[in-house]
Amino acid sequence: MSLTLPPEAAPTSSAPAPLHDTATPHDTATLHDLGAARDKRATTRSAVAARERTAVLEDRIARNPGEYRVLTGDRPTGALHLGHLMGTVANRVRLQDLGVEVFLIVADYQVITDRDDAGDLPATVREVLLDYLAAGLDPERSTVFTHSAVPALNQLLLPFLSLVTVSELERNPTVKAEAEAAVLRQKRGISGLLLTYPVHQAADILFCHGNLVPVGVDQLPHLEITRTVARRFNQRYSAARPYFPEPDALIAPSTTVLGDDGRRMSKSRGNALELRASEDVTVTFFKRAKTDAERAITYEPERRPEIANLLQIGAYFTGGTPEALADEVGAGGAGQLKALVTEAAVEGLRPLRARRRELASAGPRYLDEVLARGNARANEIADRTLDDVRGLMGMRY
Ligand code: TRP
Repeated sequence: MSLTLPPEAAPTSSAPAPLHDTATPHDTATLHDLGAARDKRATTRSAVAARERTAVLEDRIARNPGEYRVLTGDRPTGALHLGHLMGTVANRVRLQDLGVEVFLIVADYQVITDRDDAGDLPATVREVLLDYLAAGLDPERSTVFTHSAVPALNQLLLPFLSLVTVSELERNPTVKAEAEAAVLRQKRGISGLLLTYPVHQAADILFCHGNLVPVGVDQLPHLEITRTVARRFNQRYSAARPYFPEPDALIAPSTTVLGDDGRRMSKSRGNALELRASEDVTVTFFKRAKTDAERAITYEPERRPEIANLLQIGAYFTGGTPEALADEVGAGGAGQLKALVTEAAVEGLRPLRARRRELASAGPRYLDEVLARGNARANEIADRTLDDVRGLMGMRY
């Protein structure tokens, strides 16, 4: 294993130590780069299975949206970018509009898993909220809340931590990759919060009995831990009638968007196109986007990732398929492709950006109100769940 975890975090034994049952083995690729690792996992067996399951779920959701409660969210590390929109945000709005109840967590405690300085959180949380609302999230139908405002959610972490082993956490590939990145950045060992955050995420999902989690493939190992926590809790404390659901992952149709340096788009890499960016910045972003030396445009995601990425973005905004767009441009080459994609993105983002400017210029009052309402609702539900959990565990005094 070429992974460089600090000694205190290194797995002590290679054998899994299941508590009650054997967890699904995860793919443990060699992780040199978080982005590469995430992209790689897009093609693993569990990702393929999750995609197949997603097709089945989509069908059920369309017929019975009321049976589902979505919980998903983001770390407030900055304003959201095109990768968020195409990977997850648009999908959440779509689910909301289908009639599924959507809970969105702004995971502020998760920001400090791998860094000491969380920045100006109130400002960042408002930026994220602006992006959600501008993208079409309706606070009358959906609930947005933050970790730190919901104490009972966080308290679920304690019993949940007792249901997983340290080695199960240590072999979580997403945690491994993030741990490696954090160690390189901070030059010291990983925090306990980083190691345990998948369990915290289980609390995020289970506190509201979320049964559907639309995520990118990099989050699949986390969802597996949530399912394990739910299953073991039920086995141990609620055998007669399972209390927690075992939530399903819903994989967004397109999840990997590249930045202008050809690597996975991410704020920390400085290669992202923010949703709030100006038209000029958008034009420059696509001007700088990488292409390759081949003349004719074809859609070959494995062999020509940069071109495929542009085709995906273009298709996303024009409502077509990347294949059809490739045929349309064909011999026109990368120049024509870029012109087309730039135009599609500028036009496609125009309504979102107009809405965002309007909401932003109204000042923080409205945003703070939306969050206060979301937090109140989340607290009500979390208090009830924690009370149930206390009852099931024999801790109601
Ligand atoms: N880990 C997610 C991210 O990095 C954010 C998140 C927190 C989340 N809690 C969650 C996602 C629960 C899905 C479910 O963006």
